[in-house]
Amino acid sequence: MEPVAKMKRFCKAKPSKITGGCVRVGVFPKGSCPMNGFRLPEVRTIDEADDYGPRKSSESFEKDTLLTSSDDSVSLPKEICVTHCMRSLTAEEYTRAFQSFLDHSTEHQCMDQFNNKELPNIVASLGNGKSTINVLGVGSGTGEQDLKMIRIIQSKHPGAFIKNEVVEPNPQHILAFKDAIKNSSDLKNVSFTWHQLTSTEYEKQAKEENVEKKYDFIHLIQMLYRVEDIAHTIKFFHSCLDHYAKLLIIILSGASGWASIWKKYRHCLPPTDCGHYITADDIKVVLEGMGAKYQVYDCPSVWDITECFIDGDTTGGHTLDFLTGTKDFMNTAPLGLKQQLRQALGQPECSTKKDGRIIFRNDLSMIVVSS
Ligand SMILES: C[S@@+](CC[C@H](N)C(=O)[O-])C[C@H]1O[C@@H](n2cnc3c(N)ncnc32)[C@H](O)[C@@H]1O
Repeated sequence: MEPVAKMKRFCKAKPSKITGGCVRVGVFPKGSCPMNGFRLPEVRTIDEADDYGPRKSSESFEKDTLLTSSDDSVSLPKEICVTHCMRSLTAEEYTRAFQSFLDHSTEHQCMDQFNNKELPNIVASLGNGKSTINVLGVGSGTGEQDLKMIRIIQSKHPGAFIKNEVVEPNPQHILAFKDAIKNSSDLKNVSFTWHQLTSTEYEKQAKEENVEKKYDFIHLIQMLYRVEDIAHTIKFFHSCLDHYAKLLIIILSGASGWASIWKKYRHCLPPTDCGHYITADDIKVVLEGMGAKYQVYDCPSVWDITECFIDGDTTGGHTLDFLTGTKDFMNTAPLGLKQQLRQALGQPECSTKKDGRIIFRNDLSMIVVSS
């Protein structure tokens, strides 16, 4: 496991001019594909249903691209015109690629180190002695991280009852989460409530039912890329915090290799249905705008991407698919784009070389926001 050279920063946000949910995130400058200046639409329709329903066909992607690229498309080099074969990953394909990513990265080990070293102190003050601690996990996936955090909260609040609620739209993930609970005999004094909803649907439902439920601990772990309105989502969940409560956001660091790749290449990739290219830097802008008090813990994490430099390699194919959000990138991307992306992946801002392997910077930022 990689050593964690942690850097802790304490920030008290200044009052900001940005108000009323109008903060624009995904603040990379407007850009164009470094391959050819071809610009994909800056504003894309966000359709949550697409995540779990039928996907746009590659044909409709081609149509979107050609319709919106107008004059630029005229000057496209021939090799770029084959991008109509490129399409974004379906939810199932994303889940498979995500698993391959977890298998070859230290993403979860990095979270474990944060959980072990920092989380106990962070959760110690939750609830100020209450006998019940209310926890809300948003975008919990299969719950691996949630269960670890519940155990840490229990260890700091012996005898307290934990009411854990989960907001997760993917039914398969909820089933896997429930299986994990069945296999955990140590989880006593914990109740689980399931909301098979997106965060937006959960908010809407809570407002319609006029429920003003407050929580002592809310976490949004590696999921903000897929919400409709990031600033609004953070504000909403922050408003759900009780006194002596914390909101934990885990997201890619602005210093990660992802940020560097996205800055240059997001405009060459198929538009994801509801994905945002965001990092902790964007989240900090939102928190500053809210005048929130927060701390950032920067935690190095790495991803071995060596195989994506080997044509035809299966692991390499999954790696490139997850990196680009594209189905079968190795076989559908134009040769020039593939070459340029690989070259960029080997640059120091993205990766380091160690024992003949290429190690991508997957650094995470853990942002702890106080109520
Ligand atoms: C990358 S996974 C992270 C899972 C888990 N938090 C972890 O770190 O292992 C993102 C999760 O967010 C969920 N998700 C996607 N869109 C969402 C939305 N709009 N609201 C809530 N959850 C969402 C996905 O179904 C998926 O389980």
